[in-house]
Amino acid sequence: MRIYLIGFMGCGKSSFGKRLARKLEYPFVDLDADIEHETGQSLDDYFETYGEAQFRRTERQALLRTLSLPKAVIATGGGTPCFEDNMDVMNAEGVSVYLRMSPLSLAHRLQKAQTKRPLLKDLHEKELLPYIREKLNEREAYYLKSHCIIKGETVKTDQVVSLLFG
Ligand code: S3P
Repeated sequence: MRIYLIGFMGCGKSSFGKRLARKLEYPFVDLDADIEHETGQSLDDYFETYGEAQFRRTERQALLRTLSLPKAVIATGGGTPCFEDNMDVMNAEGVSVYLRMSPLSLAHRLQKAQTKRPLLKDLHEKELLPYIREKLNEREAYYLKSHCIIKGETVKTDQVVSLLFG
């Protein structure tokens, strides 16, 4: 089974994904890390050099590469489900799990990690929460197409394992 973790930046897809993969003894793939590996550039540099449209094409390629793995836990990027038919691909080829989190929780978590993210790094502290609210509002229609929706603040690996395999 391919398990695609979906959700806004900062909802914990990568850290939760690593734990879930360890528990299931599945390989773990982080799309952002895979893109960095393929391009030989940090995500930030790649975004800066080539722009968002090119990043989305590269992200799509990284997503399609996951189809060669029969089983894996895959942490997607916050924007992955919202471009081309990526969400439909994930739903057809695997199980999608949306780690849903409130804008306030996300803002709290992202404050510390803002500089690492190209879409957030130029925002003033006061602009972060309104930005999250607006962007999440745009993106939730895609995220909500996920097979499973889990509260990101309290998610536990056992909970997801029993939901998927129980
Ligand atoms: C993005 C989220 C990032 C990364 C890129 C764009 C987005 O991934 O793919 O900076 O559009 O939300 P994380 O969700 O892992 O931060």
